[in-house]
Amino acid sequence: MHSFHYLNGSLHCEDVNLQQIAEEHGTPSYVYSTATLRDNYTRLDQALEGLDHGVEYAVKANSNLSVLKLLAELGSGFDIVSGGELQRVIAAGGDPAKCTFAGVGKTRPEIEYAIRQGIYCFNAESEAEVTFIDQVAGDLGLIAPVALRVNPNVDAKTHKYISTGKSENKFGVDFESIEAAYERASKLENITLRGLQMHIGSQLTDVKPFIEAAEKVAPLAAKLKELYDIEFFSVGGGVGIVYSPALASGTAEWWESHTEEARPLTPEKYAAGVIPFLKDLGLKILVEPGRYIAGNAGVLLTECLYEKKGAAKTFKIVDAGMNDLIRPALYEGHHEIVPIKEPTKVTAHIPMDVVGPICETGDFFCQNRDLPDFAEGEYIALLSAGAYGFVMASNYNTRGLPAEILIDGASSKVIRPRQTVEDILAAEIANL
Ligand code: LLP
Repeated sequence: MHSFHYLNGSLHCEDVNLQQIAEEHGTPSYVYSTATLRDNYTRLDQALEGLDHGVEYAVKANSNLSVLKLLAELGSGFDIVSGGELQRVIAAGGDPAKCTFAGVGKTRPEIEYAIRQGIYCFNAESEAEVTFIDQVAGDLGLIAPVALRVNPNVDAKTHKYISTGKSENKFGVDFESIEAAYERASKLENITLRGLQMHIGSQLTDVKPFIEAAEKVAPLAAKLKELYDIEFFSVGGGVGIVYSPALASGTAEWWESHTEEARPLTPEKYAAGVIPFLKDLGLKILVEPGRYIAGNAGVLLTECLYEKKGAAKTFKIVDAGMNDLIRPALYEGHHEIVPIKEPTKVTAHIPMDVVGPICETGDFFCQNRDLPDFAEGEYIALLSAGAYGFVMASNYNTRGLPAEILIDGASSKVIRPRQTVEDILAAEIANL
């Protein structure tokens, strides 16, 4: 469920007309719904009520300070992957003591900073990293809390670029080697073993791989608790969202029209699948959702600049490009596209390619998709763009980063002004 819907012939986010937002703030702009962020967090948190658990929002999905502040106020912890993300969490009022630090390549300055800030735990991804954290902590005269990430070798059945839990992926320590790695780590003087972590991939739409991983790894977690008195088991993120039909999935009617079997993955289904394997471990269970919290809480607004009827197809050229939203180009990601002006019964549907202004063939948002026709000067929205949208934007083609706007009921706030070319140039040095 989410808070984007047509009202009086125009797409709204909560009570705000997105036509007005586009006119007032320009395009391309990301627009986020406070209500959806809050609902998603609360729903997942409640689904896990049967467990002693903590939600650690994966900051990488959407790291705007206002989004982090909202989640911190709801009680969320944070899964971070860089010193920069930790700085963001702190700037947003988040508690470092509720932060886990993931990632395969942490540097000395990042490790020092995180130890000094008192994070809850480093989730280390190799024995070499554990040894290094021990060394850095020793240099500081402090003890660092560490968990190891286990790679359970489970097929997440998602896009190959976002699958992380197979042996051929770079993440974590092999299931077969993990016990020996803990044994060696337990001898190090400047770390304390606090937990165990896993994360098998992102945008999982089936609960089975989650169940398979929980079933496989839970006995290991129990053993590590026994041996080293660890206190948590993080089962990672990965709960997928509905990308299609994104708009319809915002309504209760859509969910009700599907039987439980036919429903996409929900937090309740996820919880029902994994809880049986986790509830008796006597460990705190952490989850690290990113996309589930932020994905369908955001859209990217863009204007149709030109229509080009080519020999083979119709191109709608919009003012957002792959530099603003790279998911279609990078993962063949599907984002539903809807006009801001609600199509009527007489609106023609035509096959089209919606493309950006970047000089790359991969710069498209859809190809040969039947969509309600829209004209030059009209605004459209790319849905489900709240996660891995703005955070992956770049200045490619010297294009300023888009604006970000947060809606709350009838109010709207710019939470990041559009970046200007002057901003971009000011960061560079012309060595003339
Ligand atoms: N925990 C760890 C250790 C992770 O690596 C990730 C995501 C998460 C949690 C959060 O996963 P989520 O709940 O959001 O699925 N840019 C890609 C997704 C990359 C995910 C990277 N890791 C995309 O746009 O699909």
